[in-house]
Amino acid sequence: MTINTKYVGKAPNRVEGPAKVTGTAKYSAEFEVPNLAYGVVVSSTIAKGRIKSIGADKVLALPGVLQVFSHENVPRQAWFDRAWKDDIAPGGSPFRPLHDDEVKFSQQPVALVVAETFELARYAAGILEVEYKEEKHETDIEQKRDEGHAPGKGKSGYKPPKSRGNANKALDEAEHRIREEYIHGTQHHNPMELYASTVHYHPDGKLTIYDKTQGVYNCQQYVAKVFGLSKDDARVINLYNGGAFGSGLRPQYELFLSVMAALELKRSVRVTLTRQQMFSIGHRPHTLQTLEMGTNPDGTLAALKHYCLHETSRFEEYTENVVNWSGMLYQCDNVHLSNQVAALDVYTPQDMRAPGAATGSFALEVAMDEMAYAAGLDPLDFRIRNYAETDQSENLPFSSKRLRDCYHLGAEKFCWSKRPMAPRSMREGNRLIGWGVAGGVWDAQMNKASAKATITADGYLTVESAAGENGTGTYTIMTQIAAETLGLPLEAVTFRLGDTNMPEAPVQGGSWTAATVGTAVQKACQALGEKLLKLAQKMDDSPLKGASLDDVEFVNGQLRLRTAPEQSVVLRDVLQTSGEREIAADSTAIPNLINMAKYSMHSHNVVFAEVMVDEDLGTVHVSRVLNVCAAGRILNQKTARSQVLGSVVWGISMALMEETVPDHRFGRYMNHNYAEYHIPVNADIHNIEVLFVEEEDPYVNPLGVKGIGELGLLGVAAAITNAVYHATGKRVRRLPIYLDKLL
Ligand code: MOS
Repeated sequence: MTINTKYVGKAPNRVEGPAKVTGTAKYSAEFEVPNLAYGVVVSSTIAKGRIKSIGADKVLALPGVLQVFSHENVPRQAWFDRAWKDDIAPGGSPFRPLHDDEVKFSQQPVALVVAETFELARYAAGILEVEYKEEKHETDIEQKRDEGHAPGKGKSGYKPPKSRGNANKALDEAEHRIREEYIHGTQHHNPMELYASTVHYHPDGKLTIYDKTQGVYNCQQYVAKVFGLSKDDARVINLYNGGAFGSGLRPQYELFLSVMAALELKRSVRVTLTRQQMFSIGHRPHTLQTLEMGTNPDGTLAALKHYCLHETSRFEEYTENVVNWSGMLYQCDNVHLSNQVAALDVYTPQDMRAPGAATGSFALEVAMDEMAYAAGLDPLDFRIRNYAETDQSENLPFSSKRLRDCYHLGAEKFCWSKRPMAPRSMREGNRLIGWGVAGGVWDAQMNKASAKATITADGYLTVESAAGENGTGTYTIMTQIAAETLGLPLEAVTFRLGDTNMPEAPVQGGSWTAATVGTAVQKACQALGEKLLKLAQKMDDSPLKGASLDDVEFVNGQLRLRTAPEQSVVLRDVLQTSGEREIAADSTAIPNLINMAKYSMHSHNVVFAEVMVDEDLGTVHVSRVLNVCAAGRILNQKTARSQVLGSVVWGISMALMEETVPDHRFGRYMNHNYAEYHIPVNADIHNIEVLFVEEEDPYVNPLGVKGIGELGLLGVAAAITNAVYHATGKRVRRLPIYLDKLL
């Protein structure tokens, strides 16, 4: 059965849009449960040391304060004597809040104050006196340049592919060479919605947990393992996320603290982190990268070396895939890639939208621009000259790759051919104008997922799978796929997600939800279609007798023969004749391992940026960004475009504004609030255009989708950095490009 295109590939509005704008969409801290108590976290003021005392007595004397949990009284049976972790967690031992008196990072949770009201809990947490014995800390990766080590411990530790050719020799012999270091600081997850968990404690001791997470099943597993519960005892629900971007791939400490408090107090508890505490839940690591490149006389790449060092915590070895992309984006026979980590007294870094690739593509693509200039070549022409027809790292053909078409389409739309090569050659009054180009590559991944499709006698279809909705459009695209597969109007289909009572889906991440859950939804609907066909064939005088599923199609509420569309039955008649109140089918979809072994599956993009730099003030105005993406089939033009628009805004942020600034004397992030952690506002955002070059890809998955959640961020910061060079002649190699760097 193939997918028709009544809905798939079109641009329907978000099906959950009305729920969101009218406030009926509920987020984790908004669920009303009876007899709720409120927990507020107290965070460490030191970066490293021991807790000497927790002054709980004074706080417990306040009427309405229920308990002060700390390492002194945290229930042993409940807490992480089992240091359980999931398959995608970094190597090492996950952070166990309130486990003992040791402080491992600034802002570590050291106590949870629970009270009858939120206001009281907040007040009580504010006056809790915690005494520490400080120890010497290290928080600066730039002091650890020589102390990095290759990752080894982590199951998910990224290791670069084997070197190919001889990069050192090729560099020695190259016509032109560059070698530069590129640096970006730390960025913290700051989705609009704060991390929160509302735990409903039922009279029988079972829990319903509304947690801000990208994976309800992952949270359920943790809760069951850590607290020794059966999975039936802990149902986890998340219907909407106010943004997550990777911060909810692993459970955060509000989940464990709220569950622990609920089990101990035998009542419902909600824990919400403050905006400042959001700066303690994982971050994009501060990263140092070095790129070396050389070219042959014909402008082809002779050699490429990419080295990265980034921070991790003392207790987990988080690694990021920063360098691997450099071995596959361009054709080059002499490549050496390496990455190292160094442990600091910080919380473990964490995946943040296009982890590794967003930052790796910054360094690689600025270096490509520098190399193009060193070789006297137009930066886009230089990329086209070095186009990778195959994935040399894997030694595999791409399942599909239309990056060349992206280059040509983007160049034409942006009028790239009008770009003078020399920096400082375009201006408008006192504003220097520059054009830059950059791009990237991201994995097209799929995982195992299950879905269940149920149709009722009135012809109304409900499909469920415990997927996530980070604001990406999951509800909408799954509704489209289901409606398309069974030939129903969108209004007759409801997609439900985010509940461990539903069939299992993986965490929503890696841009794999469209492929993963989409395929499961399609398969469940096909399985239901097969049941409906059998029922239709049982009807008297059925024109479909003897037909297989491939012979029929579901269109406009009818089931009909492909070869003779007038031979049809009305779906509702089938259901009514069957006498069943509802018919259901479930299905599990897994990736095609044979195709995965035969093809390299990736999405690609290219970004063109125009900046205007005030010559006197050094301010950078990003006047135009064009992002052209090749990501297989686009399921919904509107939600896909929104994903890329958001990415471009984030890329502008990364290039010009966003950075968590530590004061290493205290080992503490000083701008841990929205006032001083700068991100763009509307006034910073101007013309953004998004184009898709669609790819027919029969190998990635049955839907042919590659995912679009992360791709759009790649190359944005580099394109802006390159445009700034073109405007000013100043090469910036450390993000963000604060204006003093241009004066
Ligand atoms: Mo994404 S960083 O895998 O949520």
